[in-house]
Amino acid sequence: MTDRYAVLGNPIDHSKSPLIHGMFAKATGQGIVYEKILVPEGGFTQIAETFRAAGGKGLNITAPCKLDAFAYADTTSPSAQMAGAVNALRFGAGGVEGENFDGVGLVRDITVNLGQAITGKRVLLLGAGGAARGALLPFMAQRPASLHIANRTPARAEELARIGSAHGTISAGGYDTIAAGAYDLVVNATSASLTGALPPISADAFTHATLAYELAYGKGLTPFLRLARQARPALAAADGVGMLAEQAAEAFAWWRGVRPDTAEVIAAITIPLN
Ligand code: ATR
Repeated sequence: MTDRYAVLGNPIDHSKSPLIHGMFAKATGQGIVYEKILVPEGGFTQIAETFRAAGGKGLNITAPCKLDAFAYADTTSPSAQMAGAVNALRFGAGGVEGENFDGVGLVRDITVNLGQAITGKRVLLLGAGGAARGALLPFMAQRPASLHIANRTPARAEELARIGSAHGTISAGGYDTIAAGAYDLVVNATSASLTGALPPISADAFTHATLAYELAYGKGLTPFLRLARQARPALAAADGVGMLAEQAAEAFAWWRGVRPDTAEVIAAITIPLN
């Protein structure tokens, strides 16, 4: 029987995961079926269990089910524990394994696809929610010169800095603690762009930046990216489309034992930033 996989979330119609995994499967010669399944409120565990009982091999998990997936997994990886969220499940003899590949996908997109080193660089991370938590340890593993977390609610940023401080130099605070011209890489891990909002960051944060990275994808030039480009036209502006492809490639490799190339997928799902 062909191995079955799916992405679970709500809404799910917009999901690019079936397209991405279909392309990976074709390129690597892996015979899999990949569906998308809408999860009604409160219905995650039943749907995941039914899929598994029918012989399903693994799931990708998107909003708002990542916390449910974390609770559902028998075992979770350190990256899932750090994020407090699971974005990929694997069903095998060892039970239900939970992983989170978002952070590693982000770092791979920045360092490999965009060719920007994080090592030795000054990083500004906006936000202290689930997305920022997931990014923190993969960023610190690259050994940036410094990492500053700015969040609307400063206490959440400070808490995140405490968790990450064993891994390097991290500072944190509200948006008023962002210093002018003090960052090489500026990463927007807030959910502001989902509602077309701009985090309260001023243009001078980008004065020496080489990259502005928006974790949201498919939104075109968000207010954050527009401000970054206006402030410093020479910087590279990117949305999370490469991160989406890279986290998918990590999950595919985890499930199938072969890591697909992402270039073709990224080209297929990129929406121009203008
Ligand atoms: P996600 O899983 O996408 O990270 P989350 O855990 O709800 O979602 O976190 C959302 C993040 O975006 C938080 O850092 C939030 O700031 P607060 O912690 O102060 O709530 C941030 N955020 C959301 N809307 C924002 C806005 N309009 N301006 C600035 N920050 C915003």
